[in-house]
Amino acid sequence: MTTSVDTNALEAKVQHMYQLVAEEPHGSYHFETGRELAEQLGYDTAALDGAPAGAIESFAGVGYFFDLAALRPGERVFDLGSGSGMDAFLAGDLVGPAGLVVGIDFTQEQLDKARRLARESNVDDRVQFRHGRIDRLPAPDGMVDCVISNGVINLCPDKAAVFVEAARVLRPGGRLAIADIVTERPLAEAIVCNVDLWASCIGGAAQEDSYRSAIESAGLRVEEVRVNPYSFISPSARSATATYGVKSISLLARKQRMV
Ligand SMILES: C[S@@+](CC[C@H](N)C(=O)[O-])C[C@H]1O[C@@H](n2cnc3c(N)ncnc32)[C@H](O)[C@@H]1O
Repeated sequence: MTTSVDTNALEAKVQHMYQLVAEEPHGSYHFETGRELAEQLGYDTAALDGAPAGAIESFAGVGYFFDLAALRPGERVFDLGSGSGMDAFLAGDLVGPAGLVVGIDFTQEQLDKARRLARESNVDDRVQFRHGRIDRLPAPDGMVDCVISNGVINLCPDKAAVFVEAARVLRPGGRLAIADIVTERPLAEAIVCNVDLWASCIGGAAQEDSYRSAIESAGLRVEEVRVNPYSFISPSARSATATYGVKSISLLARKQRMV
């Protein structure tokens, strides 16, 4: 799962794009954002009513996974690429006052917005946001019950490193519950090198079998995979989708006890 994209240019592009999603959530992107998208993906409307509106308007995920995550009161959760925090706030409601949710993101404007919303909602004791890279998590080994992530890992050039880090921070038996973009056929080099398509969650999408084997090589056993009702908006994104079988999946994997 190595790539030939210019990783510095890609990172700058990704940060700029998601700065805009935080600051101008109603702008026009290759992908949908906001509450309508969340409801279409299967989020519960009553649960959304309990999350800060500012987090929902900047939601840019690609699937629903909370049924797979099955979060319980008191659990510790990491949200990789937490954006403006919608999933982190929903997770915070599920783990309750005895639990802890930590969102990790490398785009400052997303972090600023999520932190402000957490303070305004009085949940900043249990829903926290840290600056960091998801391929180098700022956390010790084995302290997390569930790692969640929505629409993010496809943006990372080194997906294997992300799964190794997720496995490292999970306790034995802990879960990885994510939604992400994968492909049925490997993408052509011209698409992989296109930082616009990459930052829009297409160019970095891995072929689904290699994505799954990167998860399992990290010591996580895949238990469930399903395809989500997600589609891109722009003509270039739709064309790549049709040619390569680009699709959104939700996936549950569990850390094996003997890693
Ligand atoms: C498509 S958005 C999804 C945000 C959020 N999960 C949601 O559902 O709204 C991707 C987010 O991942 C962050 N991101 C991408 N690559 C990252 C990396 N390597 N380390 C940390 N954050 C990253 C971006 O800054 C952005 O906020």
